[in-house]
Amino acid sequence: MNVLICGGAGYIGSHMAQYLAEAGHVVTVLDNLSTGHHEAVRWGELLEVNLLDAEGLERVLQGRRFDAVMHFAARSLVGESVSHPYSYYSNNVTGTLNLLEAMRRADVERIVFSSTAAIFGNPQSDVIDEAHPKAPINPYGASKLMAERFLADAAQAYGLRSVALRYFNAAGALPGHGIGEAHACETHLIPNVLRAALGQGPSLKIFGNDYDTADGTCVRDYVHVQDLARAHALALEFMDRNEGAHTFNLGNGQGFSVHDVIATAASVAGVAIPYEVAPRRAGDPARLVASSAKAREQLGWQPRWTELAPIIESAWHWHRDQPSWSPHHRQTGHPTQAA
Ligand code: UFG
Repeated sequence: MNVLICGGAGYIGSHMAQYLAEAGHVVTVLDNLSTGHHEAVRWGELLEVNLLDAEGLERVLQGRRFDAVMHFAARSLVGESVSHPYSYYSNNVTGTLNLLEAMRRADVERIVFSSTAAIFGNPQSDVIDEAHPKAPINPYGASKLMAERFLADAAQAYGLRSVALRYFNAAGALPGHGIGEAHACETHLIPNVLRAALGQGPSLKIFGNDYDTADGTCVRDYVHVQDLARAHALALEFMDRNEGAHTFNLGNGQGFSVHDVIATAASVAGVAIPYEVAPRRAGDPARLVASSAKAREQLGWQPRWTELAPIIESAWHWHRDQPSWSPHHRQTGHPTQAA
């Protein structure tokens, strides 16, 4: 298949490109490189286009024939979305609308969309399935839920086939393929913990240890980025068999606390990881754990990275041996000295 990967220079999008290329598909990456990296585009051609440039998008979609689009291009930080909501609505809502309109005009009838656990808001059950109420508590989640609505409407109006995949906590890397999580402004737990293990970055903070969880810290469901990529590939096959707009929650179904992550990372890295306890971060639910039963039954998806330690280990190798283009590449000394 010919697949257009919007946001293919980013963390999850670059792993998607690797996965599809290895499976024999032809990939084209569309990215404005605002947070992605030219060097992460190692499979397929890079087209530098912004989703807010409707004419540029139109030229891309009219210029070549794509069998499907995968849409990872979005702003994705919960805290930032609270302080800069317009930027989130503009990129994630208007940008998605522009993409869908360009697809409609070019008769591209399939899309896999990156959605998020943030559409659910504060969880009302221990494990979150697709029927859980959708009540986002931040603009990021609201922007993604709106885009899911576009897909449902487009199925009715234009016969668009779509699968929206709601990731819980994407984690891990494929360091052997030269790709991993490389955000200039890093807010995620596992990269911050691993940078602390390397003696890099600001000191590690645990945001709140007074939650109603076993050890008082927040519990999350960490799923390997390669497992997420495989779910997208399965979604392409699913759309061959199914019309309409479909949604799936993707996680490992197991919850790990912030303390669990720090302890596992310390054992993987072989160093003690210092931290301090800080106040809670606004907008953090105590526990987010997925039920992926629907994805198992209907997509035939089963995570292969089921244990936390190997997931963290893959990220550890990536962080330890950062390529020179990564924003976290160490300029002096060799990072492995910390290990
Ligand atoms: N945390 C820390 N210290 C850090 C970073 C994070 O204690 O330095 C804590 C957070 O407070 C949270 C947990 O670690 O309790 C996980 O935080 P992340 O930032 O790694 O991930 P989130 O769960 O906040 O975010 C993820 C996705 C988002 C998605 C969100 C849904 O990355 O895209 O889940 O709530 F929107």
